[in-house]
Amino acid sequence: MRQHQVVLLPGDGIGPEITSVTRLLLEAVSKKHGFQLIFEQHQIGGSAIETNGTPLPEATLSACKKSDSVLLAAIGDPKYDTLPREKRPETGLLELRAGLELFANLRPVKIRPALTSASTLKKEVIEGVDLLVVRELTGGIYFAKPKGRIKTNTEERAFNTMSYCTSEIDRIAKVGFELAKQRKGKLCSVDKANVLDVSQLWRERVEILKQQNPDIEVNHLYVDNAAMQLVKDPRQFDVLLTSNLFGDILSDEAAMLSGSIGMLPSASLGSKGPGLFEPVHGSAPDIAGRNLANPLAMVLSASMMLRIGLKETKAAEALETSVDKVLSAGFRTKDLANESCTELGCEEIGNELLKAL
Ligand code: IPM
Ligand code: MG
Repeated sequence: MRQHQVVLLPGDGIGPEITSVTRLLLEAVSKKHGFQLIFEQHQIGGSAIETNGTPLPEATLSACKKSDSVLLAAIGDPKYDTLPREKRPETGLLELRAGLELFANLRPVKIRPALTSASTLKKEVIEGVDLLVVRELTGGIYFAKPKGRIKTNTEERAFNTMSYCTSEIDRIAKVGFELAKQRKGKLCSVDKANVLDVSQLWRERVEILKQQNPDIEVNHLYVDNAAMQLVKDPRQFDVLLTSNLFGDILSDEAAMLSGSIGMLPSASLGSKGPGLFEPVHGSAPDIAGRNLANPLAMVLSASMMLRIGLKETKAAEALETSVDKVLSAGFRTKDLANESCTELGCEEIGNELLKAL
């Protein structure tokens, strides 16, 4: 029987709840499709700080490196906000992305037919939206140096550096072009080239790749305009190519097209080694432990893991279909609930998904 090693990282907040729902589904779907998933669970983020004093313990990173795929739920809690940066949960996630060299973050935004009226945006605007944010994930202002804080006699100054070199731009842009080829053949590169040197280089490199890919329709948008276009006419987009920070911001905005950030999955990939699959949403500490969380973004992330990471396409499709069936049947968690549907808890949505498999 085919076997795949999967490291599960439940993390913080709603993480453990959505992880147990997803694990049960993965167990069921693998059994049905004739392969075995061997799970190993490890700590990251706040829970790792509690037990190990560090947000990314050595054991977690080495288990991830040895695995076939990593499935993460969410990290973070405001109670760690005052810790020094290297001790914060977010640092654990950033170290994991860097440690696995996951430079390409894929965030698909597809409006599920049952949810066209769930968005705060008009149905006519979002119907049929199917776009993909390709976000650079291991460089830019998140990682570049110098960064830090300097105290003078009179005040304090803090700074980060937005920097990209040509090879970093080229490798993420190539992923964007490749994915555009497999989709509708359109690529929109996002920058702030009217102001930032780093963006000017970004645009120049994308232009060079455009010459080498004449079959792809390429345009460039300044990030402020891209943010506006995303709510004005999101259907114009196929692949959106962004730097780390711009992609972070635009993908949260794009998530709201789908009605809830609780719907958006993501895949982070390197040029070799295991990928990391995680929902775009955070750990939602305000609703943690109350069976209110929406597990669908994590289930859809698990589906991306099956498809991209483990090449189990049929099982990936089965998970997605079960999500659509449950939504069409009118079941919703609180974030998406309205008068005409049945509100269920996280665990109960999990049971419906199992039945729909
Ligand atoms: C995301 C998150 C992370 C990021 C945080 C938690 C470090 O917002 O994955 O979008 O900024 O990349
Ligand atoms: Mg984010």
